[in-house]
Amino acid sequence: MTDLGLVASSCGGLDTRFTAELAKPAAARGWRLAITLTPTAARWLDEAGGFPALADTTDLPIRSISRLPGEPRPHPDPQTFLFAPASANSIAKLALGIADNQALTLLGDVLGSPGITIVVAYQIQDTRVHHPAWQRHLDTLTEAGVRLYRLDPRRPWSGALDLLPGSP
Ligand SMILES: Cc1cc2nc3c(=O)[nH]c(=O)nc-3n(C[C@H](O)[C@H](O)[C@H](O)COP(=O)(O)O)c2cc1C
Repeated sequence: MTDLGLVASSCGGLDTRFTAELAKPAAARGWRLAITLTPTAARWLDEAGGFPALADTTDLPIRSISRLPGEPRPHPDPQTFLFAPASANSIAKLALGIADNQALTLLGDVLGSPGITIVVAYQIQDTRVHHPAWQRHLDTLTEAGVRLYRLDPRRPWSGALDLLPGSP
């Protein structure tokens, strides 16, 4: 089994689609999931009662807060990451190197590193593409080797899994 760092932020549909259309299908494809949520995504999932079903997709703890300095690291170090769904907020922070939560700390630590594959599947409102910094953020991530995918709310999010290495 190969480890996959699966990271999610608070996009519409997270509570109903993340486990069903990303975590479960990824596990079914043979990935061992190291799941990290932004604090807001964790709050949404908790409110929806979605943690037990998500926890069933992995033998590792689901992370959303950073560990204390004396605590052991709860996750392995995957070579492959899928950030989906990625919010406009988290995309901007990742591109700028802001690491103010565990999800962004994790991704910021590996972004641009040799041998690391990162797929970022983002879901944004159509109006967001006009923000003056938006395209620059996407360009920054592309130049760092990130494979970008825009989630279409009308299609299953699992399409993003096809960008991972070893996919048909
Ligand atoms: C119901 C709802 C749906 C949202 N959907 C999206 C979305 O699809 N994409 C997005 O970029 N932001 C969306 N947002 C806004 C983000 O949740 C918000 O910017 C948040 O601060 C992002 O935090 P995070 O990136 O740390 O998870 C939504 C907010 C709400 C309340």
